[in-house]
This record gives sequence, structure tokens and C-alpha cells, in this order.
Amino acid sequence: MILVTGATGKTGNAVAKELAAHKIPFRVLVRNAEKGASFKELGAEIAVGDMADKATVSEALKGVTKAVLIMANGEDQLTIEKQFTDCAVAAGVKHLVKLSSMESEPGTTKPIPAMHVASEDHIRASGMNWSMIRPTFFTQNFLPAARTIKANNEIVLALGNAVVAPTDIRDVAEVIRIVLTNDAHLNKSYDLTGPEAMSLAQAAQNFSKVLGREIRYVAQPVEDFRKVLTQVGLPAWRVNAVCDEFKLLSNRTNAHTTDTIQQILGRAPTSVEQFVKDHIKLYQT
Ligand SMILES: NC(=O)c1ccc[n+]([C@@H]2O[C@H](COP(=O)([O-])OP(=O)(O)OC[C@H]3O[C@@H](n4cnc5c(N)ncnc54)[C@H](OP(=O)(O)O)[C@@H]3O)[C@@H](O)[C@H]2O)c1
Repeated sequence: MILVTGATGKTGNAVAKELAAHKIPFRVLVRNAEKGASFKELGAEIAVGDMADKATVSEALKGVTKAVLIMANGEDQLTIEKQFTDCAVAAGVKHLVKLSSMESEPGTTKPIPAMHVASEDHIRASGMNWSMIRPTFFTQNFLPAARTIKANNEIVLALGNAVVAPTDIRDVAEVIRIVLTNDAHLNKSYDLTGPEAMSLAQAAQNFSKVLGREIRYVAQPVEDFRKVLTQVGLPAWRVNAVCDEFKLLSNRTNAHTTDTIQQILGRAPTSVEQFVKDHIKLYQT
């Protein structure tokens, strides 16, 4: 049995759909039973409980041989991921696949990448087989821009002069499915990017091309973004961590691409243009 955490979130949901599409049995661990009910339609087993609760995690891991660890960014993420790893060892899990990020390089001082580095280290030292899935900036980060694209043809992001290599979560999910089902990927670390590194203005051009009208990138000051995150009620740690992450990306104009998705999937990664085509209804006025 495979256990998938974070299944009600973006990546976990894509992983669940990918496993279901390939008729691979799996269980999800969700903290909200109502949200979790939709996984019945995918044929999944459903465990309900909070990842912070050790007893819940141990119960969900019963009979599990492989697990996919996906966790929201938060102050307690490292504690929860370490606890999950220890419970997985105790439950006899043979292979743990962790969603990390490409920005998580040893020595980083940024809270989210530093947390991933520490969690990766803990997993590597656990004795289980592992695979680190390290995507960069998700193309799906453009989904919330649908509102401003429809309202005034703008993508407003606090990303300054960032160059990013947007990486489609659907590709990440496909990589995770393959990694789970082929031992060649045991104890490997994979940096995943989309096919092209681009500025946000270039990303906006992809939207213009598909939507047939001019879409502009507007660089929002990080401090304005901080106010928005605070107003919507995000905890202070998360607000600071996200703003730090955006500052890191804003100044990074040398993003690179990897051919890992091509190597593992045997096809090119999904482009931003294709992503917009696939989600066109969201962006059309
Ligand atoms: N955004 C990017 O561009 C990017 C790029 C590379 C890597 N990453 C990494 O991707 C990870 C997040 O993945 P995502 O964006 O797919 O996540 P997401 O959409 O934010 O979803 C997070 C998931 O975690 C669950 N969760 C949170 N706290 C929980 C708890 N205490 N117990 C049980 N479940 C809990 C949430 O459940 P609920 O639905 O109940 O809230 C949800 O299913 C982060 O570690 C991030 O660093 C992000």
C-alpha cells in the first residue's frame, strides 16, 4: 500500500489522480473528512487525522510499504516531517518519496529551503530508501492570477526581476508515480524544472499568445504582498517565510533548466503555453 499525504493540496491531489489513473492502490491521509471524501471516487483508502498527531500518523501507516510525503509550508513543517519519517521507519515503510524544492541547497538561510534541507537529511539518515522530488516554481502558481487576468489583463506577482522555469505539477505527479513504481529511482534526488527559463514578462507573453490579448506582468512590491498575506490571515511565520522566498526568487535572474523530467517521462516537460491552453476557461473573460 502507498500512503499519500497532502492529498487535498495541489501536488498531492495530482499524485492521487495519477495513481488512480494507473490503477495503483493507495491511501490518503487527510485532516478534513469532507474534503477527503472525494478520494473514494478515485478508489483510495482514506485515513482521517492531523499530521501533527503521532497516533494518527502511525495508524495511517499501518500496512504501508511506500509513502509520499507532501506537506504545506508552515512553522511546524520540519517537526511534522521528521515525526512522519520516524513513524514510517517504525511501521516498516521501505521507500519514502519526499516533495522538497530545487531551491533547497545546503547552507541556505531562507526558512522554507532550510526546512527542506533538514528534512531531506533526516530522511537520508533514516535507513529507509528515499527519493527526493525537488521541483522549482510551480506553473500552477499562475492559477490565482486568473482574477487579475480577467479583470485587467495583468499578472500581479511580487517576483521583481525573477527568472523562473515554471514546472507543471502534473509532470511532478507523473514523476512521483514512476519513482514509486521503479526501483531504479531509489535513493536518487531529482531537480525538476519546466522546459524553459523565462522572466515573468516572458511568461505573460505566453498568456498573451494563447488568450489572443495582451497580458502584462506587474511586479508587486514584496511589502504590499506581505500586507495581503497578513490580511488574509496567514500566520506570521508563513508570511515572513513566503516573503523571504519571493525576495530570493525576485533577485534570481539566472534560473536554469534540468532535463530530468524529459529523462524520467521520456517526453518534454509541459510548457507554460500548454498550461494556459489546458486552463483556458479560467483565464477567458
Ligand atoms: N509553490 C511552489 O512553487 C513550490 C515549488 C517547489 C516545491 N514546493 C513545495 O511544495 C510543498 C507544498 O505542496 P503543495 O503546494 O501541493 O501543497 P498545498 O497545495 O499547500 O497543500 C498542502 C497540503 O498539506 C495538508 N496539510 C497541511 N497541514 C496538515 C496537517 N497538519 N495534517 C494533515 N495535512 C496537512 C493540506 O491539507 P488541508 O487541505 O486540510 O489544508 C494540503 O493537503 C511545500 O513543501 C513547498 O515547499 C512548492
